[in-house]
Amino acid sequence: MPQTYSTFADGCFAGRSVLITGAASGMGLETARAFAAKGAEVVMADRDEAGLERYGAELRKTGARIHMVTVDVGNPDSITRAFDYCDANLARLDNVVTCAAIITAKRIFEQDWGHWRRVLDVNLLGTFFIVQAAVKRMLDNPAGGRIVCVASDAGVHGGGGLIADTPYAASKAATLSLVKSVARELAGKNVRINALNPGPTDSPMHSHIDPALKERIAANLPMRRMGRPEDMAAAILFLCSDAASFTYGSALDVDGGSMFR
Ligand SMILES: NC(=O)c1ccc[n+]([C@@H]2O[C@H](COP(=O)([O-])OP(=O)(O)OC[C@H]3O[C@@H](n4cnc5c(N)ncnc54)[C@H](O)[C@@H]3O)[C@@H](O)[C@H]2O)c1
Repeated sequence: MPQTYSTFADGCFAGRSVLITGAASGMGLETARAFAAKGAEVVMADRDEAGLERYGAELRKTGARIHMVTVDVGNPDSITRAFDYCDANLARLDNVVTCAAIITAKRIFEQDWGHWRRVLDVNLLGTFFIVQAAVKRMLDNPAGGRIVCVASDAGVHGGGGLIADTPYAASKAATLSLVKSVARELAGKNVRINALNPGPTDSPMHSHIDPALKERIAANLPMRRMGRPEDMAAAILFLCSDAASFTYGSALDVDGGSMFR
């Protein structure tokens, strides 16, 4: 059943733009659909060019204003090119959502220097430098801006190498931290930044996982199911909406209860 996001008024993002990284799959794609359904102009950014073409074309058929930008968020020049595209093609940049990440599951002695570097480049440095470029634009925007960085419950629990590993979990813990640091620095500046902290979510990121393991993960969650990309997209819409106007520097757990503390 298609998610309609009926909690949000039709057209509530009309006249607004959003850049979403990781928009060719999973939560990023669903977030692109959600913003498009509510009238936003959407820049879908991903390293997966074929995925962008396919899903971007699908969304355009609904009448949505969609841009597709190929980007490797682990590469500074590529990030610069993506924002150059936004500067040239959008009236202004109102919202940025960072979903792009790689998940890795190596045991401690399988992890070498190169592995750590790649995970941190994409998941942590990629997130920070997207945020930095976004803030630069939003500070000049009279309407300000809203940023959501997608972290992970692994950033809270750690990763033991079975589904997620040490560098992945460290990159996500650091994402939670960077959101707080940027929020501190931007206090009073009309740029709202928050983290979304998803629990286990049934997306293509986990397509390699044995279905029996997925069932066990679901059974161990208080809600007795894994999250859906739609659950995350709805929470991201909320964080970018005026309904969240007092939500700042926070991490919103959308996790079926996995992070009960
Ligand atoms: N699925 C889960 O259980 C889960 C749980 C907690 C957090 N998360 C986080 O949620 C976010 C979205 O995950 P998902 O489940 O939708 O994953 P996904 O694998 O379905 O989508 C990730 C997207 O990021 C893109 N990407 C990867 N590296 C990139 C790069 N260097 N440059 C540009 N794009 C790149 C991929 O091409 C893909 O389209 C990620 O940050 C992930 O860490 C996922």
